Amino acid sequence: MAKILLTGTSGQVGAALKTALAPLGEIIAPGRAEMDLGNPESMREFIREVAPRWIVNPAAYTAVDKAESEPELAYAVNEHAVRVFGEEAERLGAGVIHFSTDYVFDGSGDKPYRETDPTGPVSVYGASKLAGEKALAATGAGHMIFRTSWVYGATGKNFLLTILRLARERETMSIVDDQHGAPTWSCDLAKMTQRVIDWVEASARDTELKDALPQWNGVYHAAGSGETTWFGFASEGVRLAAEREPGVKFASLAGIPTTAYPTPAKRPANSRMSGEKLAARFGWTMMGWKESVAEVVKAL
Ligand SMILES: NC(=O)c1ccc[n+]([C@@H]2O[C@H](COP(=O)([O-])OP(=O)(O)OC[C@H]3O[C@@H](n4cnc5c(N)ncnc54)[C@H](OP(=O)(O)O)[C@@H]3O)[C@@H](O)[C@H]2O)c1
Repeated sequence: MAKILLTGTSGQVGAALKTALAPLGEIIAPGRAEMDLGNPESMREFIREVAPRWIVNPAAYTAVDKAESEPELAYAVNEHAVRVFGEEAERLGAGVIHFSTDYVFDGSGDKPYRETDPTGPVSVYGASKLAGEKALAATGAGHMIFRTSWVYGATGKNFLLTILRLARERETMSIVDDQHGAPTWSCDLAKMTQRVIDWVEASARDTELKDALPQWNGVYHAAGSGETTWFGFASEGVRLAAEREPGVKFASLAGIPTTAYPTPAKRPANSRMSGEKLAARFGWTMMGWKESVAEVVKAL
């Protein structure tokens, strides 16, 4: 069975990947204690011992606001560790699947970003993730980078679960209504990843994986289909939860501008991302955000 080295399984995307990728091979999922992404030497040692066919890396320094005051740590995990994955994968002829973010863009305009659009992060987190993308590409390893956005699911720490909890406790809530993007269900992202590995493996049937990989190299946008705002996302979640629990009183929600909710790190106002490349290359369209919110609320 192919060995798949999977990071970050205590996180949202990693947990979903652990389930989705299980049919593809033997999943080796070290926690931070076994492979600290802040420690390149221990990473190299671990990777060489496992010698995986695939490295799938959803682990990241994801504390967007905290990154403003601890950039070294953010860059260690989001850039340097990603470079190590690339270098080691190159040695092994393994493929790397890495996850990145809408925060690599400055959020200007109102059109969905394409993979070819210029980047311009406005936060340390965004800049460190962009540096990771570039570091991985520069290693020469076969790689695919999935830029996603607004990830949530039925478990883990995420916006939807926080809103649903607070909406049970409060009378009113104010939610930012001028940042535009799409929520992405962790399970949909994980299923897409499984599809891509299958697809690439099929293209490697008559050759070595390392020879098949370069044709798929690059960045792909992989966010939920459609668009909304944080206020729209919260409203839909609360509406669906209230439908299922008619006896419970939920807070009434109001939209506010970003300026009324200052945070240490700036967020892009436009996080819309075009899924056209993903569909064209791998035949995968990410689930519509409303459809996935319905699935998740049903599962709670
Ligand atoms: N969540 C979003 O809304 C969002 C949006 C756009 C892009 N993304 C990207 O999607 C990917 C997955 O995000 P997520 O939401 O699943 O993140 P998450 O829930 O915050 O999980 C992050 C994971 O990374 C691990 N990690 C962090 N530092 C580590 C270290 N030094 N050594 C080993 N493991 C470490 C964490 O382990 P511990 O439990 O030990 O801390 C955890 O398992 C990331 O690349 C993120 O940048 C996320």
